[in-house]
Amino acid sequence: MATFKASGDRPRHVVLVGMMGAGKTTVGSRLARRLDRPFVDSDVQVERRAARTVRQIFETEGEAAFRAIESEALAEALAAEEPAVIAAAGGTVLDPVNRQRMKDCGTVVFLEAPPEALAPRVGGDDHRPLLGTDPATALRAMDETRHHLYREVADHIVDVTTGSPDDVVDQIMELMK
Ligand code: S3P
Repeated sequence: MATFKASGDRPRHVVLVGMMGAGKTTVGSRLARRLDRPFVDSDVQVERRAARTVRQIFETEGEAAFRAIESEALAEALAAEEPAVIAAAGGTVLDPVNRQRMKDCGTVVFLEAPPEALAPRVGGDDHRPLLGTDPATALRAMDETRHHLYREVADHIVDVTTGSPDDVVDQIMELMK
């Protein structure tokens, strides 16, 4: 079984970052199974903390309130002793403190794909209020502000434009050897 070591010889979390639709949840849960680790999805943690859905938080309190809960949830996941696979929701990289925490506590893998490849994959998801009625345009705008941040925080970049989730898991396993 692969174990990922930090310089201090402590196994690290694997943190998946990338835009909505990149496959963080699907790939993350399969990778976690492969590594026999817990899987943590930051959106699920946010919904547990707030006892509301992502959409409800956006609609009642706004994006800033959502981002604050998201940062707390991410910090808690990263602080856990047991090494996990963590899917960090698309907007987590916007906060420099989140980015630093990811780098400090995990090996960060950016699942990279152009917005036009992601748009067909995000339709109908209720936890993504920022996509509005025109996901392709929304994703393009987000990619412009975020792409360099995903690259900045990443230890590894995996192209997920094509390929099945299991192919992506295989690639991540190879990268971590
Ligand atoms: C967001 C991504 C979503 C969710 C929310 C905002 C973003 O998570 O947190 O809709 O700003 O990119 P996923 O990346 O898991 O879809």
